[in-house]
Amino acid sequence: MSGDIHHDSIRQQFAQRIPTYERAATWMLSRDLIAAQREAAGPAPAGRDLCLDLCCGTGVVGRNLLDLGWKMRGLDLTPEMGYVASQYFPVRIGSVESIDSEPGVYDLATLRQSFMLVDGDKALSEIHRILKPGGRFILIQSVSFGAADDEVYSQVQWARHINQKTYYRQIDLENALRNHGFSIVGAKTLRIRESVDHWLNSAPELQPELRQHIRKLIADAPDAYKWARDVRETGGELFEDWNWLILTGQKD
Ligand SMILES: C[S@@+](CC[C@H](N)C(=O)[O-])C[C@H]1O[C@@H](n2cnc3c(N)ncnc32)[C@H](O)[C@@H]1O
Repeated sequence: MSGDIHHDSIRQQFAQRIPTYERAATWMLSRDLIAAQREAAGPAPAGRDLCLDLCCGTGVVGRNLLDLGWKMRGLDLTPEMGYVASQYFPVRIGSVESIDSEPGVYDLATLRQSFMLVDGDKALSEIHRILKPGGRFILIQSVSFGAADDEVYSQVQWARHINQKTYYRQIDLENALRNHGFSIVGAKTLRIRESVDHWLNSAPELQPELRQHIRKLIADAPDAYKWARDVRETGGELFEDWNWLILTGQKD
């Protein structure tokens, strides 16, 4: 898919999700995940307090860093998403693959649950460029727990994310950061329980057959997957744990 067509497809996917977006899955407003993001960012040092929330969506990550002293800016491809975030901090509409900024401007950059949708090499080159020396990049992404769930998790992600460009395991993300001039200075994981049914039914871009296919991948997964992710059906609703990685890279 060419870059422009891919970006159009992203905008189409996310523009229609605004009214329900933040309630579409537990992780989006999870207190635990927000706490982990805040811990990774820490209080903004005086004079080194400019942070760019990339692929900011409705601004959940950025707006929860404001009271730590971070001067937030946002960037997102989808105007409808950026409009919601702009109620909390200034937002530009554009792509993380080509950031409209001078080099060496930002002290911190964040990017949550969007890295699989973008050209990772271009995005990381750009993030490295816009950070000051010593600036940090916090990448927040759901990943497999390990070998036990990786194969089926990959299938689920490819089916669920209609605009996914690349599937990443934790090690792939760490290597990608290192290959683009970052040292890994923090890596925390967090287990968050999700209703598979609520998550699938909150995605208007998925046809019913595709939802059923993804549900079946999880419900009928090998025991190793079910054990790793604690897959259980309660009252007809399917639940599993997700593994959240909060990875911090520092510009060398
Ligand atoms: C799953 S949402 C995540 C939103 C937000 N980071 C959060 O955690 O709530 C993905 C977001 O990435 C944005 N996005 C996708 N590709 C992008 C790109 N190349 N440049 C900027 N934003 C992009 C979409 O418009 C959408 O708002």
